[in-house]
Amino acid sequence: NGEATDSGGETYVVATDNNFVPFEFVDQETDELTGFDVELMRAIAEEAGFNVEFEQIEFSGLISGVSTGRYDIGIAGITINDERKEKVDFSDPYYDSGLTVAVLEGNEEIQSVEDLAGKTVGTRTGSTSQEYLAEELPDANVEAYPEITTAYQSLLTNKIDAVLYDLPNVQYYSKTEGGGKILAVGDRLTGESYGMVFEKGSELTEQVNTALQTLKDNGTYDEIHAKWFGE
Ligand code: ARG
Repeated sequence: NGEATDSGGETYVVATDNNFVPFEFVDQETDELTGFDVELMRAIAEEAGFNVEFEQIEFSGLISGVSTGRYDIGIAGITINDERKEKVDFSDPYYDSGLTVAVLEGNEEIQSVEDLAGKTVGTRTGSTSQEYLAEELPDANVEAYPEITTAYQSLLTNKIDAVLYDLPNVQYYSKTEGGGKILAVGDRLTGESYGMVFEKGSELTEQVNTALQTLKDNGTYDEIHAKWFGE
């Protein structure tokens, strides 16, 4: 979906991976790309005086696509971490998140991450949760999917025992498509913050940070947040 905003200035290409409710996804009714990240990015562009054009790409290729200058900006619920900071510059954090275990409603056997040994756990390829599973849960059988909705479908049809993924995505999926059948259990496993990414040394980083701060100060950030998270 290459819909552009028109603020009169430069047009920048923004890479995202639209399989991540409620941050970026295609609305079934309107067929439009929407979500918290999409609206925040558009508001930042308007504030900073540039235009954005979204391009759909595979999450695993997003950091490298931005680091080589193929895309000007990446926004996709991207967790800020040191490994990624070696390749790209991050904006200031714009959303506090973390990982959770999710199981089918009524599952009494798996109530926390400690119960995952020997279980089959679904996650997304190239995500921080896949890394977490590899490092912290060597005894779990990991199934990495290119789209997290496929992992949720596998959970709903009992092909896997649990999913490990970003808490806000689990919660929103559960409330919507998941029909309350998928539940987040146990404590939040990690604290992770999301940031936008830029090619190293890009002047856009500061422009975006300045605009983000303005939107936080003038209430626009809170409005967009309330729309998607209801707080
Ligand atoms: N926060 C996780 C990470 O950075 C998952 C993000 C997935 N985002 C997406 N748009 N598919 O690895």
